[in-house]
This record gives sequence, structure tokens and C-alpha cells, in this order.
Amino acid sequence: MRKLTAGLFAAAAMMTATVATAADPIVIKFSHVVAENTPKGQMANKFRDLVAERLGDKVKVEVYPSSQLYGDNKVLEAMLLGDVQLAAPSLSKFKKFTKKLQLFDLPFLFKDMAAAEKFQQGPAGQKLLGSMKKKGIIGLGYLHNGMKQISASKPLRTPADASGLKFRIMSSDVLSAQFEAVNAVPLKKPFSEVFTLLQTKAIDGQENTWSNIFSKKFFEVQEYITASDHGLLDYLVVSSTEFWDGMPADIRPQVKKALDEAIAHGNKIAAEKATGDRTAIEASGRSKVLDLTAAERMQWVEAMKPVWAKFEGAVGTDLLNAAIAANN
Ligand code: LMR
Repeated sequence: MRKLTAGLFAAAAMMTATVATAADPIVIKFSHVVAENTPKGQMANKFRDLVAERLGDKVKVEVYPSSQLYGDNKVLEAMLLGDVQLAAPSLSKFKKFTKKLQLFDLPFLFKDMAAAEKFQQGPAGQKLLGSMKKKGIIGLGYLHNGMKQISASKPLRTPADASGLKFRIMSSDVLSAQFEAVNAVPLKKPFSEVFTLLQTKAIDGQENTWSNIFSKKFFEVQEYITASDHGLLDYLVVSSTEFWDGMPADIRPQVKKALDEAIAHGNKIAAEKATGDRTAIEASGRSKVLDLTAAERMQWVEAMKPVWAKFEGAVGTDLLNAAIAANN
């Protein structure tokens, strides 16, 4: 009798478990730091909508924009603890997990977004997606934002103009070295603090893409923006290997397909915003955009490019050469 009761209990418990799994959708929390009207914000929302449309009640994507849930400095730890399932930090924010991605921060590495795309989709770029697997993080794809510009409280035409000024940077040693190369003072700060730091004049400037400068209103508190196109700000869409590999085999490819389509959508928006948001900033009259002459730009290249040599060892010469080759 006792055996029978125990057996019934076990069967009932199993049924409850089965029912719970069948009824509860897999929840994918996607945490990011930018506004919704940005390439990443739009990509995340597109992914949520595609999954809702195609996978109905099997998978539910919840998007948390503007550092509502986690800032980029915490999100990867949260992901490894299972509190977040998807994120897309900029390529500058993975230094605790791999040194290889430092490649993307090297100033004046890619001549334009087409070169960055060519490298990312080529064999070396694709191999990098797996560079953090041992640390429990899997790269699922690259997402573009665009080329960075430098904003400041004074006009910057040559590297000498930046000397002694304080610039907020992302948490990257390459970006630190880049500003030190022009005798400026780099400060690693979370994205969520940049506006206030600029507004209160705790810092003099920052580097970012047109869409981030526009959507977070940095242009309202910076008098000048130098159209420098000196570096890349792109993202790596990541998940934890535990979550990703643990998804049911019939669901994972469908989620990946939706993600790939959402990334393509985000990339299209990135291209539009690179020109559209610059135009909107200029039209606002709040910030003056400075275009550099070829000779002025060359001075920035000459001052910043020596930074490459400091990081070549950690990044790997083969990888660096593959990136350089993508410019041809
Ligand atoms: C930054 O911190 O400036 C960027 O990484 C923000 C972002 O995600 O575009």
C-alpha cells in the first residue's frame, strides 16, 4: 500500500512537472542600455515581435531598454547567473571574458562600415563568435551601430585641442590608450551616467555614434561634435551557453532565425541613423558639427594609430591582419 501511494505521488509529481513545462513559455529577458529609437533598441523590439508572432506561447521575449534592468558592466555576470538570457553589449565591453575583441576598438582600423561587415562575416570574424565559450558565453551575431564621433565642450580640430580634456569612455583599455595618445584624460563610466557627467561638466567630452549622441541627447549638452569616424561601435549579441544549448532542439533554430532577421533589421536602421541622426543634430542648432580637412584627420590618425602596437600581442597578429585586409 505504502509502495502504491509513493508510486502515485511520483506519477502525480511527474504530471505536474510536464504540465508546467508545457504551459509555461521559455522567457528570454533581453537587457540593453540604449534608447528604443536606436539600432539596438529597434533590433530588440523586432526580435520580441517576431518571436511572439511565430512561437506564440512557447517563447516570450521581454525587452528591458535604457539600463532599466542592468548596465553593461553587470549584464554579463547576470547572464551567467541566469537572470538575463540575451544582451548585446558593445564589442568594447567584453574585456573580462576575452582580449581578442579588443581588436574592434583599435582607432582607425576599419575605413567604413562595409569593411567592418566584411571582416565580421568572414572566417576570422565568425571564429570570434566562439571566443568566450569556455567562459560560458556564446556570440550569436554582430549588430552594427556605426562609426564613433567625438563630442566636446570646445572645438576639436587637431589632437592638440583635446590635450588635458576629460573624456568618458566605455570600459576598454584600448580606448583608454587611444585618449592618452592625444594627452587627454579617459574615464571609464557606464553609459547611463554620460548625460549627467556632461551636463554637470564633470567631464569635457565623450565619443559615440550619431544615434547614441542623438537619442540620449548628448548634443544638447555638448557644444561641438567632431565628425571623426575614428572608431567602430558595434555589438555582439550574446547568450549564456547554458541557456542557449539548453533550449529544446526544435525551438532553438526558430529563435536563431528570428534573431538573424532582427539583426538584419537593426543593421538597416543603423545605416539610416548614421546619416539621419547627424542631420537631426545639425538641424537642432544645439551643437556644431565640425568636419575635418584631410590634413587635420591625418593628425588624429598619426597620433592614435601607434596604440595598435600595444595591443597586437593580446589580439593576435593574424586577426589584426585579417581586419586590415577587410579594407580592400
Ligand atoms: C556606450 O556605452 O557608449 C555604448 O556601448 C552604448 C551602446 O550600447 O550603444
